[in-house]
Amino acid sequence: MSTDLRPVVDLVTAHRQREGAGFIVRRPFPTAGRRHADPFLMLDEMGPSTYGPGEAVGAPDHPHRGFETVTYMLDGEFEHEDSVGHRGTLGAGDVQWMTAGSGVIHSEMPSERIRKEGGRVHGFQLWVNLPARDKMVAPRYQEIPRERIPEADSEDGLAHVRVLAGEALGRSAVIETRTPIAYHDWTLRPGASVTVPLPRGYTAYVYVFGGTARVSGRAVGDGQLAALGDGEAVTLEVPGEATEPARLLVLAGVPLREPVVSYGPFVMNTEQQIAEAVRDYRSGGFGAIAR
Ligand code: CO
Repeated sequence: MSTDLRPVVDLVTAHRQREGAGFIVRRPFPTAGRRHADPFLMLDEMGPSTYGPGEAVGAPDHPHRGFETVTYMLDGEFEHEDSVGHRGTLGAGDVQWMTAGSGVIHSEMPSERIRKEGGRVHGFQLWVNLPARDKMVAPRYQEIPRERIPEADSEDGLAHVRVLAGEALGRSAVIETRTPIAYHDWTLRPGASVTVPLPRGYTAYVYVFGGTARVSGRAVGDGQLAALGDGEAVTLEVPGEATEPARLLVLAGVPLREPVVSYGPFVMNTEQQIAEAVRDYRSGGFGAIAR
């Protein structure tokens, strides 16, 4: 029985970029050559950065409309608060899946402890587009602490996965998505070899953020994004002689195939909707963070 393997059809290296109040991210997309990755709009790897006392910066009050922001922390703590009245702290392993929908203003800052004392920060922010029918839904938060994220190991124990969205190794995510999406965090020790089914028709990507993995047979190094062609599955492997594990994200989803008109933190389908978003925001229609 042969599986129709998804080949690596494109390989790009993440570029470094300054964001928010000045923190550095590695951004695999969008890049000059890849505007977005339908249904995903952006992927930022925040850090890993080790800040000294008083150095850590974040993204103070800013709006979003028309898509979802997904924050996944690996290390450190972020405090968030927003115009809908939500506030909280995200720690290592926690996920915040925010459906901005019709609009929120939020702030995303390293915790007070890290701002004061310094510390290590590492995590991801993924932007997921919303289909036209959902762009103006009421804002929604799914905050999932680390212990509620499903995890699984391969039979030989060499591959470990945390399932943020979709399913892997027989485990299904607890987070609900508006359109079908897979978002996995894999740790592959030397000698690991797994075949990960990804439904045909999904666009799919693998982003390596530590070590080197073989993705459907092709070497993908730290900071590289592999775009996959269509098929039924991808193989993820690390040769037995490797000296370190590989860390990688698998991202896949049903493409929306709708017009994307974006202006900073607003992502809509038409210029007119962008003009409305700007008008609503300037006139106070997104509310404010109560402090
Ligand atoms: Co934001």
